[in-house]
Amino acid sequence: MLIVIDGPAGAGKSSTAKAVARKAGVDYIDSGALYRGFTLLYVHNGQNKSKFFDVIDEEILSFEFDRDTSKAFIRGEEVTDKLRSEEVTRNVSTVAALPEVRRKVSAALKNAALSRNCIAEGRDLGTVVFPDADLKFFLTADIQERALRRHKEIRAGAEPANLEQVKENLLSRDHQDTNRAVDPLKKADDAIEIDTTRTTFEEQVNMILTEIQKITPHKH
Ligand code: CDP
Repeated sequence: MLIVIDGPAGAGKSSTAKAVARKAGVDYIDSGALYRGFTLLYVHNGQNKSKFFDVIDEEILSFEFDRDTSKAFIRGEEVTDKLRSEEVTRNVSTVAALPEVRRKVSAALKNAALSRNCIAEGRDLGTVVFPDADLKFFLTADIQERALRRHKEIRAGAEPANLEQVKENLLSRDHQDTNRAVDPLKKADDAIEIDTTRTTFEEQVNMILTEIQKITPHKH
């Protein structure tokens, strides 16, 4: 079984997908972590695209998919805890717009989904990477609500942030992700849209679980 969730940052994709994965007994795949892994490599190379492309060809970046964590490694050393730094977040949509990077991430995602039942979340999963997924969802929420959520999340972590900057980053990534030439953020025609602005976390998790039950034969 393959379930995909797409949508903009802060709409609740990861937390919802993780909870659904746990309850449905499937693995969780975070496609953003892969784009963030490439972005970390780009940052390590001074944000210089030609150096970055040389390093990509060395295949030093690798990924592992645990039940609920998508992990990144550079030359075998785990860098998962560096993927959500402010610098990576600021650059990720630029790196994710590069066709070479998208090709590599898509291949890694397809490979990961071959061997497991999973729920994967991202921007172009229902439209480009997994057009034949068993179920597709598109999560959205008002920008103000998304900025508040993300701000709260970041404040709980190590790096300081101010609400206006968080909101600006979300708007700038929304713009880049929606308008890029390759695989833009877009709702698949057959995706079920859930606006999470006013739903509770339990409600959105249950909406997805209900749809999964509809396509899963009853076990007696
Ligand atoms: O967690 P958050 O919503 O902040 O972002 P993410 O899921 O970690 O994704 C980070 C960035 O990667 C997005 O803003 C996109 O630019 C890119 N991305 C993408 O282009 N396609 C995907 N399937 C997933 C992420």
